Amino acid sequence: MAGNWKMYKTPVETTQFFEKFGPLVANSSHCEIVICPPFIDLAAAVAAAKNSPVRVGAQNIAWAKEGAFTGEISGPMLNAVGVTHAIIGHSERRQYFGETDETVLKRTQAALEFGITPIVCVGELLQDRESGNTANILTGQFQKGIAGLSEQQFAKIVIAYEPVWAIGTGKTATPEIAADAHRTIRGQVREKFGKDAADSIRILYGGSVKPDNAKTLMAQPEIDGVLVGGAALDAVSFASIVNF
Ligand code: PGA
Repeated sequence: MAGNWKMYKTPVETTQFFEKFGPLVANSSHCEIVICPPFIDLAAAVAAAKNSPVRVGAQNIAWAKEGAFTGEISGPMLNAVGVTHAIIGHSERRQYFGETDETVLKRTQAALEFGITPIVCVGELLQDRESGNTANILTGQFQKGIAGLSEQQFAKIVIAYEPVWAIGTGKTATPEIAADAHRTIRGQVREKFGKDAADSIRILYGGSVKPDNAKTLMAQPEIDGVLVGGAALDAVSFASIVNF
């Protein structure tokens, strides 16, 4: 169960969130819980999550270890603050910041090199869905991106299916639509990496997940977890999703 805070909250607000959130998920041992705040909040989040089951993730990671890459944050820097996960290729990065399948692959490889679990996002635009192109888009994103990993690398990643038309819009994909897309992605995984990889890859659903729809989404065997934006900003609401 992963929360993506996007560009919300200061370090002080981060600490306040964890004070409230920690006790609400203290006994939530049925899943892994990851919160991904903005870079500036990571140190505060790691400190506040100490002695709790909650892990802290970044919202991106550079493909290089260090160098002349203004505005980027590298794997070793994330290691140094205790970050365990990184979201890669979120649709907002693809749409507004020029992220491509190729850079997604490079960032994923860098995360793995530094022991950080990548949460790699894929998903179609509204026009793709309306024109019946969803499977093509998902297949293309897979083949041009994470299909470039080795088998050993692939075993360590998490995929998030996030239909762009469902993100921040209040329009959740129905559990059936989400499960269908997950099957497409899992089918690609099976073709490229084999049955074991397809059975064990965790695929999260993201896009307007809320406390009142988490249970029906999670009831789909294809859906292994959720990536939550807006509803992860509030401790009570994210805890009720975690404890669906
Ligand atoms: P949302 O965002 O839950 O606010 O729709 C999900 C995401 O972008 O990860």
